[in-house]
Amino acid sequence: ATERTFSIIKPDATRRNLTGAVTKMLEDAGLRVVASKRIQMTKEQAEGFYAVHKERPFFNDLVSFMISGPVVVQVLEGENAVAKNREVMGATNPANADEGTIRKVHAESIEANSVHGSDSLENAKIEIDYFFKPEEIVG
Ligand code: CMP
Repeated sequence: ATERTFSIIKPDATRRNLTGAVTKMLEDAGLRVVASKRIQMTKEQAEGFYAVHKERPFFNDLVSFMISGPVVVQVLEGENAVAKNREVMGATNPANADEGTIRKVHAESIEANSVHGSDSLENAKIEIDYFFKPEEIVG
């Protein structure tokens, strides 16, 4: 089925001028960018977005990293978009990511791993709603 998922191009990637390179890998995988904006996340926004991880030992570092520079938040649309996006991203830890995936090609570390993508259709909707108004998404 046609789905929408949520993607973030993280500060390590925007810093290295990889917004286009990462977006091209998403598009080449068959995903369409139906919304996109470059933002500087606030601490409150990052803490809210990653609230499910707040008891994890890496939470504070993760929030600091995500506000260390601009990010590009995007809504991606396509057939099985959630799974397709996860496939093209590769494993969370770039050391475990398959050849040709975004994280294998571009990520610096498990924290500075270049992209975020929703892990389920249910979370995709929550994450899209967290950053986008309906009228900002043009399919
Ligand atoms: P993301 O998909 O954005 O969701 C949570 C993020 O926490 C994850 O990608 C990683 O970049 C980051 N992170 C940092 N350290 C760890 C860790 N030890 N295990 C899992 N995720 C981590």
